[in-house]
Amino acid sequence: MQDKRPMKFITFTWGCQMNDHDSEVIRALLEQRGLVWTEDIEEADVIVLNTCSVRKSAEQKVMSFLGKLKHLKESRPDVVVAVGGCMTQNQEISDQLRKSGHVNIIFGARSFHRLPSLISSYERTGNQVVETDLEEQPPSGALPAHRDSRIKAYVTIMYGCDNFCSYCVVPYARGRERSRGSASVLAEARRIADLGYTEIQLLGQNVNSYRDPEGKRSFAELLAAVGEVAGIRRVRFMTSHPRDFTREIVQAIDAVPTLCDHVHLPVQSGSSRILQLMNRGYTREDYLERVSWIKAARRPIALSTDIIVGFPGETPSDFNATMELLAQVEYDSLFGYKYSSRPDTPASTMADSVSESEKAARLQVLLDRQRESQRISYSKQLGQILEVMVEGVNPAREQIIGRSSQNKPVNFTCAQPITPAPGSYLQVKITATHPNSLAGEAV
Ligand code: SAH
Ligand code: SF4
Ligand code: F3S
Repeated sequence: MQDKRPMKFITFTWGCQMNDHDSEVIRALLEQRGLVWTEDIEEADVIVLNTCSVRKSAEQKVMSFLGKLKHLKESRPDVVVAVGGCMTQNQEISDQLRKSGHVNIIFGARSFHRLPSLISSYERTGNQVVETDLEEQPPSGALPAHRDSRIKAYVTIMYGCDNFCSYCVVPYARGRERSRGSASVLAEARRIADLGYTEIQLLGQNVNSYRDPEGKRSFAELLAAVGEVAGIRRVRFMTSHPRDFTREIVQAIDAVPTLCDHVHLPVQSGSSRILQLMNRGYTREDYLERVSWIKAARRPIALSTDIIVGFPGETPSDFNATMELLAQVEYDSLFGYKYSSRPDTPASTMADSVSESEKAARLQVLLDRQRESQRISYSKQLGQILEVMVEGVNPAREQIIGRSSQNKPVNFTCAQPITPAPGSYLQVKITATHPNSLAGEAV
């Protein structure tokens, strides 16, 4: 007789917010099928890995995790192991997973929503199931999601990427760009607001190339419309590609109070020569022009960026151009990465000419410079009163943790006897500043 105990599952996720959100969808879909979520791998009947291949280091983390799973699978052969996401779209890795003997289901970055039926199919046949078709159209409507956060909600507005930056696996891993209809996005935003969420983050690899299949709204118009949904107090979006970034986005932020004072605008390099080799489609000057639009806004819009150091052929003078750009723009935050050669990308055919130690040295110089810049820019907020959304408490330090509209972490104290609930908004006077956070007291 069959065991009637419901099957339990656990998910592990690597990579970007889009992957995090895909896992939230996977969770909801499996729950709809009667599976029960667990945080304890020991009691899980199904183990789902949602992987990332953006850099070699990301893949290595997944591979070492899979190594540990091999032992678990030996002691509990009935456990179903499903591996999906960006890594599985690479033929070599997919072949390796197929042959590994302890992976039962392989699903691609575009078939994550089909996992429940893939699990059923595996259970029916006992044979390994592989579904990594990138041609598959992603669903145009909203998918159910069991969100990790009770206060901030991710909403995917487009799938895939058509930019083919020469270093990047994402277009190969996620397939062609496809936008969701704006009416469906707005309906989802309304449902989310009805559930009590006040912050929405719109997601896409290049939200600026959003094309409403219904032809109703541009990205800036969609952004504004989400910001006008009753109950929504904060809207964020990422990622913006500088080539497609428009003035209308800045105008929307100026016009709609709920749009946050923050734009993430990855530059990748400050050298036009390297930008061209990267196939980014803009020059240093084009980028700086976008920045000038943002800086000319009526609202104090914070800027963050991503930078790759040690791209093939990056000379000390190219790197210096990046450092000069940093000095000019004064970013509020920055994510720096050492170039990692990715199979099948055009850059992988160029000589990976900058040594690992030189990449590490450049990254350190970059991050040190950024820390100094943030020390100065954060200190400008001393004495200001900012609206902060409460995220939680730090009991050890008896502080409340939250974020400003500019996405800066704010740690503060509150004289009220009742601790404010996560998701509430308070006015906080900034009394101290650090390179990565602000501190203050609720007023
Ligand atoms: N779509 C987004 C970012 C996707 S990946 C964009 O275009 O900005 C996030 C970041 O990882 C990129 O901005 C880039 O800085 C970094 N990245 C991507 N591929 C990389 C590689 N091969 N080596 C090192 N960093 C990489
Ligand atoms: Fe990768 Fe470029 Fe697409 Fe971003 S825009 S996901 S960096 S190819
Ligand atoms: Fe990684 Fe795929 Fe995101 S490669 S960064 S999980 S799109």
